[in-house]
Amino acid sequence: MISNIDLGINFAYVVSAVMFIFGLKMLSSPATARRGNLVSAAGMLLAVVVCLLNVGLDYKWIMIGMAAGTVIGLIAAYRVEMTSMPEMVALFNGFGGIASLLLAWSEYHQHPALSVFIAGVTFLTAFIGGITFSGSMVAFGKLAEMISSRAVTFRGQHIVNGLILLATLVFGVIFSMNPAANYPVFLLVVVVSLLFGITSVIPIGGADMPVVISLLNSYSGIAACAAGFVVHNNILIVAGALVGASGIILTNIMCKAMNRSLVNVLFSGFGSNAQAAGDGPQGEIRPATAEDVYYILEAADSVAFVPGYGLAVAQAQHVVRELGDILEKNGTEVSYAIHPVAGRMPGHMNVLLAEANVSYDQLVEMDDINPQMDSIDVCVVIGANDVVNPAALDDESSPVYGMPIIETFRAKTVIVLKRSMNPGFAGIQNALFFNDNTRMYFGDAKASIQALVAEFKDSV
Ligand code: TAP
Repeated sequence: MISNIDLGINFAYVVSAVMFIFGLKMLSSPATARRGNLVSAAGMLLAVVVCLLNVGLDYKWIMIGMAAGTVIGLIAAYRVEMTSMPEMVALFNGFGGIASLLLAWSEYHQHPALSVFIAGVTFLTAFIGGITFSGSMVAFGKLAEMISSRAVTFRGQHIVNGLILLATLVFGVIFSMNPAANYPVFLLVVVVSLLFGITSVIPIGGADMPVVISLLNSYSGIAACAAGFVVHNNILIVAGALVGASGIILTNIMCKAMNRSLVNVLFSGFGSNAQAAGDGPQGEIRPATAEDVYYILEAADSVAFVPGYGLAVAQAQHVVRELGDILEKNGTEVSYAIHPVAGRMPGHMNVLLAEANVSYDQLVEMDDINPQMDSIDVCVVIGANDVVNPAALDDESSPVYGMPIIETFRAKTVIVLKRSMNPGFAGIQNALFFNDNTRMYFGDAKASIQALVAEFKDSV
């Protein structure tokens, strides 16, 4: 017999699940994304409160945990730089993974005589949670440059990884057949899962970390979903499945935007042979001063800004919008060309430009701007490099070959804002910088654009 309390709890969980789904849907448009985040967060609050109404809980430890988590989370969220957001997401994923692992461990510790099914999902929770935790910590270390961001590869690496994976699965089967008598085997599963997380992320280069983080995000969801079965909590199953599925979809979108398969990202060791700054295409560059760029922009009928990671580093989004507004007042048609993997996380450029209140209808996706490129007077590349590298189209030996790019080289004039001739994240030089129609405007992007704004103001 299902009690009224159970019915009420499950009804509240259904409401939470609906809020998650609507929240996710709203995240797909910049206009509704903020509200979508709030709707999902409210759904999560409802789920947590309803879950805590369970009688017989020891609230003292729950409150201590929640207070500590809230304080740490708030401080971290306020202090994190926008450019460090991928690291923050990596940490969140890792903590999600270890939470699921500990939950499974604690349940097993209290009730070792599990059924084969529950023992199986307990193993899966610990296994996936362990990989997520240690893999995320390695991803965090690579992004924060605490460890080398190069792909660390050695001969026979895939065989070693395959053997570790096989060993974990064998331990999992032994454990699930007789969990009560196999506590040491469970501990082995935990240790080997943590090891596998490290050995499977170490061979992936820093340039691919955003994809790995998205994949680990999916793993953290799958671990939470499995943990939901362990503790018989329906909303944990639903929320975990949603995170698992959306993480995989995002991973797939990112791979497509780079024209690479997930297998290539995970196993190719991309970035282990990165060029030194002086390697690759060479030639004569044409430097420009703020005054030169001012005259070019002042005479342009259409200008497309192409932002990349350097925009985030320089925090130049507000001055870019200011320059865009001045150009529009000058009668210039202004657009912002967005590459799906510009920056270091999905939607990085959209978030920055939204923060500076750039109108959504001025943002143009890569596939929509490229057909118009021949008729654009000036492309202003702001701290973007790989996403405008023509080698992706014509150099089969290039590591970025096949990645769709914003084809700025086809515009009448290209102005590139960066500080030096250093390469971008893929570690390769860019032939665009040596083209006849390209002018290099060196300096920090924010200071460079401020100088342009000053030129326009002085000329009034
Ligand atoms: P990058 O190729 O990394 O180039 C960024 C450029 O910004 C650098 O060349 C750098 O040159 C310049 N820069 C840095 N700080 C600057 C500052 N303060 N002022 C002016 N310029 C500055 O960036 P991108 O074109 O956005 O490409 C993104 C890369 O990340 C791609 O390789 C992509 O595949 C990879 N990736 C991204 C994602 C997501 S989801 N976004 C996912 C996976 C991989 P200087 O040092 O000379 O200034």
